[in-house]
Amino acid sequence: MDAHNQTSINPETARGNGIDDSQQAVGRPEHFPLVQSPHMTRLTDQQSKRLSTNLRNTVVCVTGGAGFIGGHLVDALIELGARVTVIDNLANSNASHIASIVDSHPEQIRFVQGSILDPISLSSAVEGAKYVFHLAALGSVPKSVEDPARTWVVNATGTMRVLTAAQKAGAARVIYSASSSAYGDNPALPKIETQAPEPESPYAASKLAGESLCRSWSTCYGIDTACLRYFNIFGPRQAADSAYAAVIPAFLDRYLNNQSPTIFGDGTQTRDFTHVSNAVYANLLAAAQDSPVAGEVFNIGAGHRTSVNDLASSLAKLVGVTGINPDLKPERTGEVRDSVADISKAEQALGYTPITSLDEGLKSTAEWYRNNHQAAGSSQQ
Ligand SMILES: NC(=O)c1ccc[n+]([C@@H]2O[C@H](COP(=O)([O-])OP(=O)(O)OC[C@H]3O[C@@H](n4cnc5c(N)ncnc54)[C@H](O)[C@@H]3O)[C@@H](O)[C@H]2O)c1
Repeated sequence: MDAHNQTSINPETARGNGIDDSQQAVGRPEHFPLVQSPHMTRLTDQQSKRLSTNLRNTVVCVTGGAGFIGGHLVDALIELGARVTVIDNLANSNASHIASIVDSHPEQIRFVQGSILDPISLSSAVEGAKYVFHLAALGSVPKSVEDPARTWVVNATGTMRVLTAAQKAGAARVIYSASSSAYGDNPALPKIETQAPEPESPYAASKLAGESLCRSWSTCYGIDTACLRYFNIFGPRQAADSAYAAVIPAFLDRYLNNQSPTIFGDGTQTRDFTHVSNAVYANLLAAAQDSPVAGEVFNIGAGHRTSVNDLASSLAKLVGVTGINPDLKPERTGEVRDSVADISKAEQALGYTPITSLDEGLKSTAEWYRNNHQAAGSSQQ
């Protein structure tokens, strides 16, 4: 991979709207403010040794690598010695983190600013890749309710195009970022992979379609696939600056501005909040499997339930806020009531076990937002 120093990217056009799927640029994104972010996926020597045997000098592609989870995955891949191509159209991210990696490891990373729906960008991105980590997606449930067609095109059609391009490029495996939203509101807990999916939003339906595509591509076209169903991933660099921000950055942003966070519903709904390092670790393990995974689906969570009310009080304590109570607003359409993962299948088949606990993860995440909340996009309302 010697394509690291091509044309630069104009920051004026570098936050895309996700609609123009034909723009393409390759190279280092310029002039982005750099946000300090420590490497989050702390592996033991033994874990690193095993994973780097598989990944050192290996060409991999990360779709959506400018995004929150993708950016952390890219950090870990770079540290393990992989040669990484990122494709992202910046529909829901900016290129500041990628720019900092290009500066520090120019020989190891290539950035394609383009859409997974654009065949030229996509084939350039997957060229030579042994593993394709497919994270690019439109991730907001409320936005998917507003514009289901766009969510479907990016998440379902986009996944089909990634699978096709990866297979044509001779990749060995696509590791797909699936979503626990596929389970829907079936009250049975914990969520286990044998439970019938009941997607409740266009987002959940599109992510579930991606799993079916992965399985069928493994069966029909000989490319191996693995589907990782994430449960509420959180950590540094998750966007805090939109009405659709995930709950942890949104709460931290409000507390750090001495404002009440908003809870949709009564706050007794529960989630399996999972530190981003655990999702990254699951991706690395899925790549490292010696035998075919054949489209199997794995829950990737921490395996514990926490209510949104308890989460709010833990975060308030961690940032030293007292006397600010959450605002309760009506529940949002398409959101599930309770969720917690049974992670035994991933433990047995992939050797997955969470490497960062909820308490450790919340502590380091709160610390990061405290240090970076201006640069990270504080709402300041
Ligand atoms: N964050 C979570 O808790 C969570 C839970 C379940 C599943 N997931 C899945 O994990 C993946 C990553 O999520 P995230 O939280 O990092 O979201 P994110 O929005 O930060 O990252 C997604 C990235 O995909 C990019 N993208 C969107 N459309 C694109 C397109 N057409 N072409 C190229 N790039 C495009 C965005 O610009 C963004 O950088 C997604 O597939 C999401 O569905 C996330």
